[in-house]
Amino acid sequence: MSTFDGKVIVITGAAGGIGKVTAQKLAEQGAKLVLVDLNLEAVQQVVSELGLDSECAVALQANVANEEEVKAYVDAAVAKFGKIDGFFNNAGIEGTTANIEDYPTETFDLVMSVNVKGTFLGLKYVIPVMKKQGYGSIVNTASGAGLMGTPGFVGYNSSKHALIGMTRVAAQETAPFGVRVNAVAPGVINTRMMRQIEKNTVPGDVEGAQKAFGAAVPMGRYGEAAEVANVAVFLLSDEASYVSQSIYTVDGGQLGQ
Ligand SMILES: NC(=O)c1ccc[n+]([C@@H]2O[C@H](COP(=O)([O-])OP(=O)(O)OC[C@H]3O[C@@H](n4cnc5c(N)ncnc54)[C@H](O)[C@@H]3O)[C@@H](O)[C@H]2O)c1
Repeated sequence: MSTFDGKVIVITGAAGGIGKVTAQKLAEQGAKLVLVDLNLEAVQQVVSELGLDSECAVALQANVANEEEVKAYVDAAVAKFGKIDGFFNNAGIEGTTANIEDYPTETFDLVMSVNVKGTFLGLKYVIPVMKKQGYGSIVNTASGAGLMGTPGFVGYNSSKHALIGMTRVAAQETAPFGVRVNAVAPGVINTRMMRQIEKNTVPGDVEGAQKAFGAAVPMGRYGEAAEVANVAVFLLSDEASYVSQSIYTVDGGQLGQ
């Protein structure tokens, strides 16, 4: 028997670098998946690339910052599979790179809306399902930027700090009901998001930006999406049955410096 046989896991941002690899690892271990993303075509592509049939997975479009759409994906998950055992609350955007005085207010609002409100809404609608079941594991995707200052990233940084607090509140509110809530805090990970951040940070020298980001990590390299997925999968599993309110850095040692 595989670790996730009979388990139903919802993933947001499932078409992205980290979401997709996490979906793959969970599917390999027998999970049934509800894959949610803003980009429907991309998330449908994930389902077909992973070779998952409609018994095993469903791809849904939702903007995580829209309350009706969040309620709809949670209702759809329960309607299809009858329960939600795990929730990878992972969708997020990077915003732009600028010092505070130059940071566009509309970008700040957008990043807060997707990263903070989107994560909050996911919790708001998934938690009642899990409390009723008396069982569940939630993993929020925070960031190393939620645990230290990262100049030039006021929107992203503030949003990810908020997710650390939200994780702690949610963990305490749900622990008596058999629900665990943790966060992963990735460092620099090789996905579309870092490609965009490299461009935003040093527009004329993406390669130089990449080298500098990598060199700032004690391990001297970017992490891979699979290295984050491994930790998320552990936290979603019963192997982590006594783990709640923890923030797992996955950053090659960057935060501890
Ligand atoms: N890549 C990194 O270096 C890094 C580091 C720390 C934290 N993270 C976090 O990891 C998570 C996943 O990022 P990734 O690296 O896989 O990036 P990614 O850009 O590859 O994936 C993000 C996914 O989220 C989806 N998304 C964006 N806005 C959405 C919305 N409003 N509603 C629904 N879906 C939406 C996108 O379509 C995309 O598929 C994010 O929360 C990100 O902040 C990434």
